[in-house]
Amino acid sequence: MRRLTKVLLVSFLSLVYSGVHAQEDLLARGSYLVNGIVGCGNCHTPRNADTTANTSMRLAGGFLIEEHEFTAYAPNITQDRETGIGAWSDEEIMRAIREGVRRDGSIIGPPMPVLSYRGMSDTDVRAIVAYLRTVAPVRNSVPRSVYNIPLPESWGPPLGSVPDVPRDDALAYGTYLGYTLGHCMECHTPMSEGVFDFSRTGAGGTLFHKPYGLDFAVTAANITPHAKQGLGAWTDAEIKRAITEGISRDGRPLQPLMAYGYYKTMADADLDALIVYLRSLPPQPAD
Ligand code: HEC
Ligand code: HEC
Repeated sequence: MRRLTKVLLVSFLSLVYSGVHAQEDLLARGSYLVNGIVGCGNCHTPRNADTTANTSMRLAGGFLIEEHEFTAYAPNITQDRETGIGAWSDEEIMRAIREGVRRDGSIIGPPMPVLSYRGMSDTDVRAIVAYLRTVAPVRNSVPRSVYNIPLPESWGPPLGSVPDVPRDDALAYGTYLGYTLGHCMECHTPMSEGVFDFSRTGAGGTLFHKPYGLDFAVTAANITPHAKQGLGAWTDAEIKRAITEGISRDGRPLQPLMAYGYYKTMADADLDALIVYLRSLPPQPAD
């Protein structure tokens, strides 16, 4: 009897332990994503006048993104219950990220990259939510965005379950990193009348006005393998340096709208897969 109790106790404790362990893995994954390739803070963390992130306001919103089509304010996504998302359930936050629907049922507008995030796996979106729960609450009320374009009724049919993408398939996982998680193509794909022209994925050319509310403009680069206009002649090391350090092939520093400050923590295997994806894109302009 005593022996049985002991066996039961040991198996109970190891269950608790593996549960704690799984939670740690989830948090580590969430931190790796949010502070790396996904870079929610590239929009949701306001910046100082010198364009560096305002770390005391991490993910507290208020960052203004001004384009012809909208004056968008990234909301507060800290755990503050009144001005942030502290009172939202996990399911409500997951729906906001992947389906672009707010807690009250209203639609979330651009540039929140919902189209890309729809492909996020259940495991990864759960990891992101688990990590967001650990972000310190900051009280900060953010103005509502104003859109001069009609917003879609929805970003697509309700999502069911999204499976994980196998990491041993470099092209599939690289596409997941670049297209879905990193939403690289929402900045690097040209738009035509307010919609992405995916026949020219990665061709760049979009002019961003007043990034960080500052008075200048920057154009997204062509990141297709075109030999002259894109990355075709770049080495893998040069592409990695641009992504993680923000230095172009000729040594020119890139504007931090390109989120290299986040990408610098990417694992080397992830960078390799991302490059496999970039090199698989049809070169633009098409010959
Ligand atoms: C490219 C910029 C951008 C990125 C990257 C981004 N967001 Fe957003 N997000 C926005 C904007 C802008 C809005 C508000 C749009 C509007 O006003 O309709 C928004 C809205 C939201 C909302 C709705 C909050 C509310 O109170 O209405 C949540 C939740 C959210 N984002 C979470 C995230 C998370 C988590 C990530 C990273 C996984 C992320 N966002 C990445 C720009 C971005
Ligand atoms: C928020 C918008 C945005 C996102 C997201 C973004 N980029 Fe960029 N990227 C830019 C802009 C703008 C430039 C040009 C910056 C400049 O010229 O100073 C750029 C430049 C680059 C360059 C340098 C090209 C050159 O010719 O110098 C590479 C490579 C690149 N991006 C790859 C990526 C990859 C890969 C991702 C996804 C992991 C990504 N970008 C995500 C906006 C973005």
